[in-house]
Amino acid sequence: MMRILVTGATGMLGRQVVPALREAGHDVVRMSRRPAPEGDTAWRRADLATGEDLAHAVGDVDAIAHLASSPYRGKYTQQTDVAGTRRLCAAARRAGVEHLLYVSIVGIDGVPWKYFKQKLAAEEHVRGGVPWSIVRATQFYPAIDMVLTAAARLPLLPVPSKVLGQPVDTAVVARRVAERLADGPAKEIANVCGPEVLTFQELADTWLAARGRRRATLPLHVPGALGKAFRAGELTLPNNPTPGPTWREWLET
Ligand SMILES: NC(=O)c1ccc[n+]([C@@H]2O[C@H](COP(=O)([O-])OP(=O)(O)OC[C@H]3O[C@@H](n4cnc5c(N)ncnc54)[C@H](OP(=O)(O)O)[C@@H]3O)[C@@H](O)[C@H]2O)c1
Repeated sequence: MMRILVTGATGMLGRQVVPALREAGHDVVRMSRRPAPEGDTAWRRADLATGEDLAHAVGDVDAIAHLASSPYRGKYTQQTDVAGTRRLCAAARRAGVEHLLYVSIVGIDGVPWKYFKQKLAAEEHVRGGVPWSIVRATQFYPAIDMVLTAAARLPLLPVPSKVLGQPVDTAVVARRVAERLADGPAKEIANVCGPEVLTFQELADTWLAARGRRRATLPLHVPGALGKAFRAGELTLPNNPTPGPTWREWLET
């Protein structure tokens, strides 16, 4: 049994990682910028973007599952994801934390996108810190569901139709995070990908059918090197599927 701090505990993945770790018998402390819910002693309010209260948050834990991120927000992303990860690693070293596991993204080294460069820079800080593991995941099902739900408010559903994805259930990623933490610092990258590679057109069509929605789709062309990388499948690892529900099965449950 370990005492584990989860950054990003309130997020899409965090909400699955926390119960997965508790079920495995660990003592879990959730970190957030928000104040603790009344009476919750296993909650640490801290901010990666400023470093406020980070030392307190990591002070009495054996391991950290670092999931927090604030993507596509310019300087704030730099402060949270890159400088914040550096701060977290430094605080972990001072506190004698034995293992820091960082959740990253499959394909960040092959796609010329600013957020991916920031994730790579964060990975570098993790590799230079306390004993570490990195779990890179593909696109989360609930994230795609959220994007399509928002896009379907438009009269035509815009879809980067030829982009390839290999999305995954967050519960599957959470299990892998829990297993990696139990195994101790691997000092290597593990990839968690969904069971099938699909175009975003296929993802959208399946979503429309499962949700009983009728919308014509508007194919979007992603230009330049970014689009080329997306269409070439840089966000996927077809030879590395993880068993778990397919996109259709996930939508049906
Ligand atoms: N979404 C995807 O499809 C996907 C795919 C592969 C990998 N990933 C990676 O998986 C991880 C989790 O992603 P997610 O989609 O679950 O995230 P999310 O739902 O967007 O949640 C982000 C979390 O980060 C915390 N956070 C943001 N800024 C912070 C700051 N300055 N200080 C402290 N905490 C901060 C938030 O906590 P509070 O708001 O409570 O403070 C929240 O819990 C990320 O590292 C992401 O890059 C995501």
